[in-house]
Amino acid sequence: MKNPETFHIRTYGCQMNELDTDMMRGTLEKRGLLHTEEAEADLLIFNTCSIRDLAERKVMGKIGRLGRTSQKKKIIGITGCMANAKKDSLFRKLPHVDFVLGTNNLHNLEYVLDQLLETGKQQIQTDDLFREDLDYLATYRKNKVKGYVSIIRGCNKYCTYCVVPYTRGKEVSRPAKLIYEECTHLANQGYKEITLLGQNVNSYGKDNDEMPFHDLLYQLDSIQGIERIRFLTSHPIDITKELMQAIRDLDSLCEFVHFPLQAGSNRILKKMHRIYTKELYFEKVAMLKELVPNVALGTDIIVGFPTETDEEFQETFDALKAIRYHVGFLYSFSSRKGTPAYRWEDDIPEEVKQERLRLLLELQNTISQEHKQQLLGQTTEVLIDRMTKDQRFLRGRTRCWQKVMFEGPTSLIGTLQKVKITGFTHQTLTADLQIPVH
Ligand code: SAH
Ligand code: SF4
Ligand code: F3S
Repeated sequence: MKNPETFHIRTYGCQMNELDTDMMRGTLEKRGLLHTEEAEADLLIFNTCSIRDLAERKVMGKIGRLGRTSQKKKIIGITGCMANAKKDSLFRKLPHVDFVLGTNNLHNLEYVLDQLLETGKQQIQTDDLFREDLDYLATYRKNKVKGYVSIIRGCNKYCTYCVVPYTRGKEVSRPAKLIYEECTHLANQGYKEITLLGQNVNSYGKDNDEMPFHDLLYQLDSIQGIERIRFLTSHPIDITKELMQAIRDLDSLCEFVHFPLQAGSNRILKKMHRIYTKELYFEKVAMLKELVPNVALGTDIIVGFPTETDEEFQETFDALKAIRYHVGFLYSFSSRKGTPAYRWEDDIPEEVKQERLRLLLELQNTISQEHKQQLLGQTTEVLIDRMTKDQRFLRGRTRCWQKVMFEGPTSLIGTLQKVKITGFTHQTLTADLQIPVH
């Protein structure tokens, strides 16, 4: 087998996968490989996602088609959650795949490549538990202003619909010292914003007595140069009063919380094993809004969970209306093999799921637009992190995660600026810079 000189990684799924891709890219570049377009790459890696059926089918189709083209001999690897979910059955379905490397084996990428090159035999590693063995500082980082930092991997919550606890394994918190070092390193390189990543960041420290999540935030807030800290994602049960106080008190901690409700009915929440009631959830939201009046909230919702009635869906609808999230990620239930919900009949017809989704999307769109409307004429702080794709405008986000674009010199990339909101399109706010432009 020919030693690859070029590579390409296709990424599916969540922010953790994006970060894992950048870590693999860093590792491969350090090894001397060159990142290229997919068609030219000697080594092609699919960093996959298993969260919904569609995510898996797309990538299976794509890799399957590669096997039928004459493009061979690329080296093809599958990494990410599908590697753990499907393990060696992937070789049966896709015999032209050369290696399968699970979410907890990223540190072995080079070893697996070496073994493959030496033996010419298919390689597979899919451990259940994450080991803290990654070269974080080698991570490739395209954006020089903001970056992801992994703080905890895995999930112990076992929501009945979700594959993540099986594809990522149990929670493993990263030592606080290493997180602090990486964030300091980023600050020294001029980074202004970090987003702390984990499947459930607020259970940080519970598996190893490191320190509670809010204490970690106090530590990181003290790093000179880091102007903004965000975190993704949270489980409502672990959003504590101490965390809310940290959002209120720490200058760098942004006033945006992803607070995923999933469903508005207690019966469905229980069946989902979300371990909170609607009442507890509403109490927490009320407490957060009281402590941090300008907080913006985001949510994830699943419609069409097995046995969900029209009335129960209505409760979800009413909850969205009452809480008025700034952003909502809305999904229809997808039955995943290996999860408890897989054993239940997926009994809500597709048309009903789609109709419920449509109603929620319409509601959420209206609410999101109303939030934008309220910002008109206001002056707000934006961290400028890049140009828009067409290179015509500067682009950044407010502390509350709203996208903003406006005219200005590229020298302002990487700085915090005040802008006055003048309008908005579907997704993005438009604004005027509040400093004179030369
Ligand atoms: N750790 C995150 C979620 C990761 S998955 C959290 O708990 O918030 C992202 C979202 O995908 C979930 O919040 C859920 O809304 C959705 N999701 C997960 N499994 C799903 C499934 N089987 N069908 C439909 N949506 C699903
Ligand atoms: Fe999945 Fe629930 Fe864990 Fe989120 S908290 S990753 S939805 S099991
Ligand atoms: Fe998908 Fe795995 Fe993330 S299933 S959403 S890539 S944790």
